[in-house]
Amino acid sequence: MKNCLLGFMVFMGFILRAEEGMLIPSLLQAFESDMKAKGMKLSAADIYSVNKSSLKDAIMHFGGGCTAELVSEKGLLLTNHHCGLDAVQRHSSTEHDYLKNGFWAKSFKEELPNAGLTATRIVRIEDVTEAMMFGIQGVEDGNKIGEILKRNMKKIIEDATRNTHFQADVQAFDYGNSFYLMVKEVFTDVRLVGAPPSSIGKFGGDTDNWVWPRHTGDFSVFRVYAGKDNKPAAYNEENVPYAPIQHLKIAFNDRKVGDFTMVYGFPGQTEQHLTSGNLKYYIEKQRPMEIDMRTKSLAVINEAMTKSDLTRIQYMAKQARIANAWKKYIGQIDGLKQLDAVSLKKKFEDEYVQRAKSQDGWNHYGPLVDRMNQLVEQKGSYEFTYTLMVEYLFVGPEFFRLARSMEDIERNYAKYKASNELDAKIQAIIKGLDGFFKNYDVNVDKGIFEALTPAFRSYLDKRFVIGSLSNQKLASDIYSKSIFVNKEKYLAFLNKFSEKSLSTLKKDPGYKLFAECFTLMRNEVASGANDYNIEMDALLKDYVEGKLVMFPDAKHWPDANSTLRVTYGLLEGSAPVDGMAYTEHTTLKGMVDKYNTGNPDFDLDPKMIEYYKSKNYGNYAQNGELWVCFTGSNHTTGGNSGSPVLDANGNLMGLNFDRSWESTMSDFYFDPNRCRNIVVDIRYVMWVMDVYCGAKHLVDEMTLVK
Ligand code: ARG
Ligand code: ASP
Repeated sequence: MKNCLLGFMVFMGFILRAEEGMLIPSLLQAFESDMKAKGMKLSAADIYSVNKSSLKDAIMHFGGGCTAELVSEKGLLLTNHHCGLDAVQRHSSTEHDYLKNGFWAKSFKEELPNAGLTATRIVRIEDVTEAMMFGIQGVEDGNKIGEILKRNMKKIIEDATRNTHFQADVQAFDYGNSFYLMVKEVFTDVRLVGAPPSSIGKFGGDTDNWVWPRHTGDFSVFRVYAGKDNKPAAYNEENVPYAPIQHLKIAFNDRKVGDFTMVYGFPGQTEQHLTSGNLKYYIEKQRPMEIDMRTKSLAVINEAMTKSDLTRIQYMAKQARIANAWKKYIGQIDGLKQLDAVSLKKKFEDEYVQRAKSQDGWNHYGPLVDRMNQLVEQKGSYEFTYTLMVEYLFVGPEFFRLARSMEDIERNYAKYKASNELDAKIQAIIKGLDGFFKNYDVNVDKGIFEALTPAFRSYLDKRFVIGSLSNQKLASDIYSKSIFVNKEKYLAFLNKFSEKSLSTLKKDPGYKLFAECFTLMRNEVASGANDYNIEMDALLKDYVEGKLVMFPDAKHWPDANSTLRVTYGLLEGSAPVDGMAYTEHTTLKGMVDKYNTGNPDFDLDPKMIEYYKSKNYGNYAQNGELWVCFTGSNHTTGGNSGSPVLDANGNLMGLNFDRSWESTMSDFYFDPNRCRNIVVDIRYVMWVMDVYCGAKHLVDEMTLVK
């Protein structure tokens, strides 16, 4: 009977309650008892401390957009394959196809430097709300308040970094209800150590992206280097592997449903406080437009990538970036509609308004909801047009990127000339051209342009006019005449650049279109969108304050803003859809099953089938099965990729890399029944390195604990 019950509970694992929220590590004390009730064996100070080494010292912000963790005394750093993809791609060519075949440095000497890549450790987090607010009392004028905040911020940062090699910034939380200082140590010599072949690191491709069940070995390996004094230093052959204050140990024990899990990383952005009207705008207007634009460009890119290896390598990272958000957006509106999140928001808003009426001091909160919903109606179109222009000019045809640097020069010509900056600016553009054209195919770009331009035109609000768009031969003019689509032509133009070149530039059809769009964007659209956002944020600030004051018992957490956070939950599956349950882990068997479906996203090396058939799992299996991925009920978002998923003792169970399809809405609305993060099991990562790829020396560097 007892066994039956246990079995039932294990199967029904998904009814264990998931936890919403991304917590500030320095405030974890308040959650310690709840975390312990869920199984955690650590104290809050083991996770975050400024007085002793703590887990935080092993967590790094990787290149500003992902998370990574230190796993050896010699600065070995793990992150996701898709986070390291740019670096791997930069070192790849058709002769050395590291993307396809993988890459493993056999010694320190073979580890590859990556200009511009950083890894940042958080030294400390401090609540500086009072210091930021100093001198603001009684000041009404918004500009004055802005000035005071700026001045205070500057002083706080100077005080925090004086006589150190640290950097710092101050971030607003809850739309400015509080402010925190982040002191950071930024490492600038981060080398590529290894990456699995894409048949592992990207297994499932776009078909499986944002989907459970999942079998992606989404990891890559880097190493942080430092100067001889163990402090950050610019790349230098003489640099040595960084000796971290703390590195994570590897959780090598068996896992089961209900195990405590915790994700420690840098989530990018959530928008939990949007009002019903704003959410409706996203679901009905903005997201469908973004999806449509991307569907069109992806059709062109995907087709070109299947036709040539060169194009595949050139466009792999770009395609992944466009497709990733595209698919997430589709999942988000799906989930939000299914849950009827707009009605749920409305219900909460009614209660908010009711409570505001219940006490004298709360009355001013009441009208906020209506005012925010009205603001969306009145000024949301600026936000829409701004997003549309971003999709067209910055996600669409790539020659726009080159045109943008020239637009800056044209507009600031006199200024740059007077300050003697002009030459350096032109040289910088020339320097970037090899990198740009290495990954550029003019026919693909033209295809994207032809697909997006009519869509852009049709979404553009009638009150905005862009003359060049009416040119019937626009595409053929640009792609036969513009300097931006031909490296030699553009280089010749830049090498002979003088004041006269400006008039040539102004006649260039590609430049003309870009300049016209960009001028409109800068002068009218951006300022309208900016006003909208400033007004909305000011309302949101009071609205959130109202939540904190009027709902003191609810769990409050500040929206993600790319600062270090902790989220915790359990290893568990989910039941996202009526009549369907997801179990909590996948195995190598499932990977081979997917291969047999014939979709090229599931291509495997025959070696993988052999290893599977002979059960060549080393000592990485659990009950004879090799776990590949598992899910947890941890509230995560973009930026959490590469984050360590830690067990009750703070040991590394795996790397976070995704969420399930039904969870993508958690950026706006967290539903504990369906929202799950997806993790690649560290034992699979170790197996790939050690057994499959023959990089045992890396596994030997790490500390395995049972
Ligand atoms: N969806 C994950 C995230 O947002 C992984 C993306 C990489 N994988 C891919 N097939 N594009 O970053
Ligand atoms: N895949 C995401 C990332 O790159 C994680 C997520 O959105 O869940 O950060």
